[in-house]
Amino acid sequence: MLQDSFGRVHRDLRISLTDRCSLRCTYCMPAEGVPWLTSDRMLSTHEIVRLAGVAVSLGVDEIRLTGGEPLLRPDVVDVVRALASLPGGPEISLTTNALRLPELAGPLKDAGLARVNISIDTLDRERFAKLTRRDRLPQTLAGIAAADAVGLHPVKLNAVAMRGVNDDEVVDLVRFAVDRGYEMRFIEQMPLDAGHTWDRTQMVTQAEILASLRTEFDLTEIPGRGAAPAERWYVNGGPRTVGVIASVTAPFCGACDRVRLTADGQLRACLFARTETDLRTLMRDGADDETLANAFRSCLAGKKPGHDIDDPTFLQPDRPMNAIGG
Ligand code: GTP
Ligand code: 5AD
Ligand code: SF4
Repeated sequence: MLQDSFGRVHRDLRISLTDRCSLRCTYCMPAEGVPWLTSDRMLSTHEIVRLAGVAVSLGVDEIRLTGGEPLLRPDVVDVVRALASLPGGPEISLTTNALRLPELAGPLKDAGLARVNISIDTLDRERFAKLTRRDRLPQTLAGIAAADAVGLHPVKLNAVAMRGVNDDEVVDLVRFAVDRGYEMRFIEQMPLDAGHTWDRTQMVTQAEILASLRTEFDLTEIPGRGAAPAERWYVNGGPRTVGVIASVTAPFCGACDRVRLTADGQLRACLFARTETDLRTLMRDGADDETLANAFRSCLAGKKPGHDIDDPTFLQPDRPMNAIGG
């Protein structure tokens, strides 16, 4: 069991498959991108599956694939197939910008992918182009439809709420999702951008998001959130739901069950961790599975109780979002 010193049991492994992305969301990456990981530093499929196998032997039963954009990894279907075949059959899900889903949704489903979360911050083509620095809204919409069509359910849509950018669109986004049977989730922006420009006063809070939504919808809170970051509400009595991920104003660190593996094989006990455990070097130096399991345990033993974003001494992690995986 992967328990930390605060008694939190870790069952959810988030694996970043690449730091590269086909978009350049302003809150994540500069226009020119960032210096990408070189291929010798990236984990191979075999290495990813081996480390995931160790995690599964320690009680992990959910694996989330992230990026950058995980579907840019050429062997992503093979990765999914191998992870889904691990002992106990962990649930495999993926968080994506959807651009490659029109061709990959079917093969991913066949390989054992259970479900997808898709980032879509706006339904306005010009805004989308400005925000992501790529004119790809039609492809994103096609990718969402493809995931739905092959049964990658529930389809969840993620929007980072941004003041003066998309905060006037929350109602339209919920209508879009409700009409199609998807779950819309709004995310409070966290200090994880490559440019370190995050500003607390610019962040759209959960309270503001809910106030906007309540002008149009009747929201009924759904109890029993467990370790999930999203708080959820029935829209107009249900069955459709909306979620808010309020990492900043209502942190859920106390129930956190997540541990992260970066594309270059570093284990992070928290999104905001300032230290990493170098599993890649250990593994390439010939460590056996028990040594790797002990490295997982000692990484978790150093996990802090929370992210401390509101602490005056808070320091943003050195790695930006695209290299941690969200
Ligand atoms: P589900 O299991 O489908 O609910 O996925 P999820 O919401 O946990 O993951 P997703 O990849 O869709 O991420 C949505 C948002 O939640 C992103 O902004 C993530 O950065 C954020 N998030 C995911 N895990 C954590 C976490 O452990 N801590 C914090 N603070 N934010 C997280
Ligand atoms: N704060 C919160 N969420 C973010 N994401 C990207 N950057 C941030 C940030 N600074 C979201 C993406 C994606 C998910 C993995 O993380 O929109 O949906
Ligand atoms: Fe790419 Fe996701 Fe970063 Fe946007 S938030 S640039 S989709 S990694």
